[in-house]
Amino acid sequence: MPSKKEELLAQIDRAVKTCHGCRLWRTATHAVPGEGSFKAPIMFVGEGPGYHEDKLGRPFVGRAGSLLDRLLLRNEISREEVFITNVVKHRPPDNRAPMKDEARACLPFLIQQIKVINPKIIVTLGRSALEVFLKDKPIGEMHGQGFKLGNRVIFPLYHPAAALRSPAVLQILERDFRNLPKIMRGEILPKEIEIKSKDINQMKLI
Ligand code: URA
Repeated sequence: MPSKKEELLAQIDRAVKTCHGCRLWRTATHAVPGEGSFKAPIMFVGEGPGYHEDKLGRPFVGRAGSLLDRLLLRNEISREEVFITNVVKHRPPDNRAPMKDEARACLPFLIQQIKVINPKIIVTLGRSALEVFLKDKPIGEMHGQGFKLGNRVIFPLYHPAAALRSPAVLQILERDFRNLPKIMRGEILPKEIEIKSKDINQMKLI
């Protein structure tokens, strides 16, 4: 019998699949709500589905996904034990970054997923995901470190797709990723970060 959490996640999936809250559903083939363990201690948040994700309705199954899989494997984290989702759940046309209003419209789904799964660590992949959790913070200064947000840790990383375009970024991503098991084990402590109380969305994510 599915657990309460599994039922809630299935409810979120259904709501995502019928969502017309922004323009993206019109050009998408499949919604991509996310997948993984309902007990995941780590949640990965990417930007939005790409071509292959849109075709299959699953997150990170294209080239960027293969790189993510490799990084997980190398750091002895199994894809089955984490949860993987995106800022927007329908593919932005031509793989453009999600617009602000699209990210805002989709945010309630991400908030619900976080509330149900209750991950200790949220790994943001790329700028769009970082912006949701830590507003106006440059990824160049934040990547590879853990930051406390309520009782969770936000761990910003460069997006795997950026690493596929640049060997220098790939090297940084590989190095940063090695900090993830250390953060999980408490060997690296997250840094305190100032959150302005007017960042209402951030407050909802805590
Ligand atoms: N890039 C993303 O940001 N998300 C995916 O699911 C795939 C590629």
